[in-house]
Amino acid sequence: MKLTTTFIVSSLLVTASAVPVTQKSGGYKVTLSKRASFSTSESVDVDGDALRDHLRRTTAKYERGFAAYHNNTGKAHPLAGKGLAKRHMSSDPLTNEGNAMWYGAITVGTPPQSFTMDFDTGSSDLVLPSPACTESCQGHHAYQPTESSTALSLLKPFSSAFGDQSKVYGMQYQDTVGIGGMSATKQTVGAATQYSDGFSKARFAADGLLGMAFKSISELHADPVFHTLYNQNQTDSGTFAFKLAENASELTLGGVNEALYTGEFAWSNVTEEGYWQVAVEGMTINNKTMFHGHAAIIDSGTTLLIADSTTVAQFYATIPGSRPAPEVAGPGYYTFPCNAVPSVSMTFGGRAFEIPQKTFNLGPSFKGSQECVGSLVGSDDMSFWIVGDIFLRGVYTAFDIENKRVGFADLA
Ligand SMILES: *[C@@H]1O[C@H](CO)[C@@H](O)[C@H](O)[C@H]1NC(C)=O
Ligand SMILES: *[C@@H]1O[C@H](CO)[C@@H](O)[C@H](O)[C@H]1NC(C)=O
Ligand SMILES: *[C@@H]1O[C@H](CO)[C@@H](O)[C@H](O)[C@H]1NC(C)=O
Ligand SMILES: *[C@@H]1O[C@H](CO)[C@@H](O)[C@H](O)[C@H]1NC(C)=O
Ligand SMILES: *[C@@H]1O[C@H](CO)[C@@H](O)[C@H](O)[C@H]1NC(C)=O
Repeated sequence: MKLTTTFIVSSLLVTASAVPVTQKSGGYKVTLSKRASFSTSESVDVDGDALRDHLRRTTAKYERGFAAYHNNTGKAHPLAGKGLAKRHMSSDPLTNEGNAMWYGAITVGTPPQSFTMDFDTGSSDLVLPSPACTESCQGHHAYQPTESSTALSLLKPFSSAFGDQSKVYGMQYQDTVGIGGMSATKQTVGAATQYSDGFSKARFAADGLLGMAFKSISELHADPVFHTLYNQNQTDSGTFAFKLAENASELTLGGVNEALYTGEFAWSNVTEEGYWQVAVEGMTINNKTMFHGHAAIIDSGTTLLIADSTTVAQFYATIPGSRPAPEVAGPGYYTFPCNAVPSVSMTFGGRAFEIPQKTFNLGPSFKGSQECVGSLVGSDDMSFWIVGDIFLRGVYTAFDIENKRVGFADLA
C-alpha cells in the first residue's frame, strides 16, 4: 500500500511516537535533532580529542565500506587505492563522529519498539543493540526480537572486521521497520551483542545507526532501509532529502520538502554506486579557484570536510597566517587567523555553493586564541573528498536512488 498523502513528524530523541501533522504531497518527514559539535559556541575552544577521534573513526568507517564493497561485488572499490582497505587500523568500526550526528526516530517490530537513529548516508546497514548487549550498550534501547511477532532470526552472525577491542558484532534478524509513517517489511537488522567504544551513551546519543547509501557497501549484504521502502512501493519517489541545520533539521523520505529550499537543484550523477559518490567540480577560496575535479562522497554521518593532504595543504597555503595544527587538533588539521575566516565554495552540478563562514570555523584552538581551527582536514589515507555536514548545513540536499544522483539547492 502506498501512503502518499500523510505528512508525519516523529518526535525527537525520546520516543518514536509518530504524530500526523498536516496533509501534503512530496514525502514523509522525520524531524532530526543534533547533538553538540566540536565546540559549543564560537567563543569556546575546540575539543582536540574529539577532532582526532573524528578523523580516525571516519577513516575506519571508509575502510569498512570499501572492504564490504570488495566482498559484495568481487572488485576493489576504485577509491580504495591508497592506504584505505589495505591496512588494518585499530579504530572504531562504527561511526560516532564526535557527538555531532543527526538523530531521528524509527520503530522496529510488531508491536513497534521505538529507537532513535543516526541517519548516515555514508553507510548502508541498520544496527541496533540487542538485549544480550549489556555493558557496552548501556543507556541505549535494545531491540527485543522475542517481543516482536514479525521478527525472524536469520541465524547469521555479523561482525565489523576492523579494530580489535572495538568491534561491533551480533546476530542478524529480519523485521518490520517503521519510519515517518511508512513501513519496510523483512528489513535486515543487525542486533549487536557487543557495541564498540564509540557507541557508549556518552559519545553516541542515538540507539543505533541507519545507513542510507547503497547495498554494495552493506556489511550485512542487505538492502538499506530506504531501498526496502522504495522496492516495497512505500514511497512515490526514490528520493530522500536532508535539511541539516542547528534548528528545524529534517529528513524527507520519498520526495523533497519544497518549503525548505528555493530555486532549482544542481544535480550530480553518482559515479560509483556504493557511497553517494559524485564529482566535486571545483573549489574556491576567497574567490580563487583551487582545482577542477575530484571524487567526493556526500556523507551525513561525517561532520568535517576531509580530503587528500596535498590538496588541503594547497588550500591553507592561500590563507596568510594559516598553519598545520597537529598539536592542537591532530594531524591533518590547520588553523587560520580568527579574523580572516576564508570564504569557501564548492561546485557541484555546475553550481558553486558557499560554506557558511560560521560553519567553516570550528572555533579558537584554545580559549582566547586568535587562531581558529578549520573544518577542512587533510588525510594521507584519502585520495578523495568526504563532504560532511560542514558543507551540508549550508544547502538542501536530495539523494535520488532512482536516477542515482545527488542534488543541492539553496536553503529557503
Ligand atoms: C563476505 O561475505 C560473505 C557472505 O556473502 C560473508 O560470509 C563473509 O564473512 C564476508 N567477508 C568479509 C570479509 O566481510
Ligand atoms: C510495486 O509496484 C510495481 C509496479 O506497479 C509492481 O510491479 C511491484 O510488484 C510492486 N511491488 C510490491 C512489493 O508491491
Ligand atoms: C535555535 O533554537 C534555539 C533554542 O530554541 C534558539 O535560541 C536559537 O536562536 C535558534 N537558532 C536559530 C539559528 O534559529
Ligand atoms: C547523468 O546521467 C543521466 C543518465 O542516468 C544522463 O542522461 C545525464 O546526461 C548524466 N549527466 C551528466 C552531467 O553526465
Ligand atoms: C569575491 O568576489 C565578490 C564579487 O565577485 C566580492 O564581492 C567579494 O568581496 C570577493 N571576496 C573576497 C574574499 O575577495
